[in-house]
Amino acid sequence: MSEKLVMPNEGRKTSKTPGHWVLAQLGKKVLRPGGKELTLKMLDGLKINSSDHVVEFAPGMGFTARLCLDKSPQKYTAIEQNEQAAEIVRSYLNGQNQTCIIGNAQQTPLEEATASVVYGEAMLTMQTDPRKNEIIAEASRILKSGGRFAIHELCIVPNEIDPTKKQTIQKEVAQTIQHPAKPITPFEWKELIEANGFNIEYEVTAPMHLLEPKRMIDDEGFLGFLNIAKNIILKPEARKRVLGMRKVFRKHRHNLAAITLVATKK
Ligand SMILES: C[S@@+](CC[C@H](N)C(=O)[O-])C[C@H]1O[C@@H](n2cnc3c(N)ncnc32)[C@H](O)[C@@H]1O
Repeated sequence: MSEKLVMPNEGRKTSKTPGHWVLAQLGKKVLRPGGKELTLKMLDGLKINSSDHVVEFAPGMGFTARLCLDKSPQKYTAIEQNEQAAEIVRSYLNGQNQTCIIGNAQQTPLEEATASVVYGEAMLTMQTDPRKNEIIAEASRILKSGGRFAIHELCIVPNEIDPTKKQTIQKEVAQTIQHPAKPITPFEWKELIEANGFNIEYEVTAPMHLLEPKRMIDDEGFLGFLNIAKNIILKPEARKRVLGMRKVFRKHRHNLAAITLVATKK
């Protein structure tokens, strides 16, 4: 990737920057809660092949985009809201059938029933409930019948959690990441997807270890991890944010998890 590419939200006050962009500025490329391991499971469940038109919602730093492109889909289209992130994703694209459009996943310029695979990671949790539904409805609109859809998001467990406790966790997560995020239970994620015309085919969860050293080494490689650690030491404002986020994730470790769901359109 070119050194000249600007990182998302660069120049914004660190204390007010959404958590995922603080991590990206520190060098983190994997910004989804279940890490590379859950992403690989999601991609296995999607069974992407050379005849697929794949649409990725919110590719961020392009980590999964690259894994997906390794599978040589016929067409790859990403929809990313953030201009700097879109530029970074474009630096990985090659050829006419690979594009990254700056736009919103809830209202894409894509034709109805033209995609065979749609997926998005760590992008629905940060939306309000009505917006979550709009984005899944848009995935359903652009997918052909029989097309595959997958998410990889944060969830609150167990399904039967006390509602007050759930609200407290949602509030603390949103506060620490400085973004109005609202993780929901596995049952609620499945309900939202099924209500938009899908059958759930595959479900897997993983611990929310996004900021734990072992997961960071697995996700970023040892050198990547050392680079992030160096940046954390050199940037006290960002360090404060990372430690704040990790504290909340650790506090609620028994009630926070990552989930991947793969579904097919009826
Ligand atoms: C936490 S990052 C996750 C990035 C990447 N998917 C990953 O897992 O590493 C959230 C991403 O969602 C994008 N995003 C948020 N809402 C969006 C929307 N409505 N449409 C398109 N992109 C969106 C952000 O710009 C950012 O790139």
